[in-house]
Amino acid sequence: MAQSRFKSSFIGDRLALAKFNPNLVCHSWQELETYTNNCQACGLHKSRSQVVAGRHNGNREADLLIIGEAPGRVEDERGLAFVGDSGKLLDIMLDSVGLESWYLTNVVRCRPLGNRTLFETPRNGLSRNPTKAECQSCWGFLQSEIALVKPLAILVLGKVAARTLLGTAAKFEKLMRTKHQYFEYPVWVAYHPASTDRA
Ligand code: URA
Repeated sequence: MAQSRFKSSFIGDRLALAKFNPNLVCHSWQELETYTNNCQACGLHKSRSQVVAGRHNGNREADLLIIGEAPGRVEDERGLAFVGDSGKLLDIMLDSVGLESWYLTNVVRCRPLGNRTLFETPRNGLSRNPTKAECQSCWGFLQSEIALVKPLAILVLGKVAARTLLGTAAKFEKLMRTKHQYFEYPVWVAYHPASTDRA
């Protein structure tokens, strides 16, 4: 992707990434992969099959970065974000609006045990969202990923992702009706596709 899409000098090289946020932990895709795969920062590493990486449709430096909450069972098995029922629905939605360049990832990269996918009955009654502490553990990775993708815009899906990225406890419905900013990136908030089965 051409760097010239961005007027800001914040992004583009290693030094610039450090300006974006001093807490960035990964300065290359290779570092992101290595660090996340070896991460044991929170308890989720104990029950994961594998760390779940972002998924894109051709170019990981995509125009639209979509951020969900956490991987479900299928993602945990396959190691890729949004490949379960929520992901299938999301793919259809992205296709239907003709979006050509997207990258999907999550606030948390390991499956919170008991997390369910769309239409899946929670097993052992353990269906849950990631905790604040788990989101915070993964925060450095998400920030690094944002800087590496360098999207034109960010779409956050669901309350957990919205509150984590925007650093607020504001009501989800209120967040949805506003355009936000995260550094130089415009941010929009939408319902998580999995919420359609809770209606
Ligand atoms: N839900 C999410 O938020 N992320 C996934 O990857 C799958 C389901």
